Amino acid sequence: MQINPKNLLKLASEAAEKAYAPYSKFKVGACALFEDGSVYTGCNVENASYGLSLCAERNAIAKAVADGKNARLVAIAVYSPNCEKCFPCGACRQWIVEFAKDAKIILQDKDNEIKEFSIQELLPYSFTLD
Ligand code: THU
Repeated sequence: MQINPKNLLKLASEAAEKAYAPYSKFKVGACALFEDGSVYTGCNVENASYGLSLCAERNAIAKAVADGKNARLVAIAVYSPNCEKCFPCGACRQWIVEFAKDAKIILQDKDNEIKEFSIQELLPYSFTLD
């Protein structure tokens, strides 16, 4: 599966514009690429009960699952206009590893340079079904 990191980040940044983040004002977008070439985007959705807020990454993955996607997750791009290299939180790393043991995490730094990490690098010794 060919990964186009620039395109995934663009889709993630468009998704970030749709974020519902009235409390933190911290908008995040994610774009998940599956091995059949399909992509699913998500944004963060906050709640007055702060702890119930949903992250962009989990929103994108949940959309794919709800759509019946059972292909392997190949990569996920994460973008926030509010920070450089918007690393997935711990809960999102655990969600990502659930759907791919070797997913690529694609981020953008402040000079618009693209950085890639593996989920194994960001979440070593993870808890999985295996
Ligand atoms: N957020 C994400 O969407 N993804 C992450 O990986 C980290 C945090 C959101 C949750 C909340 O709406 C806002 O960023 C501030 O924490």
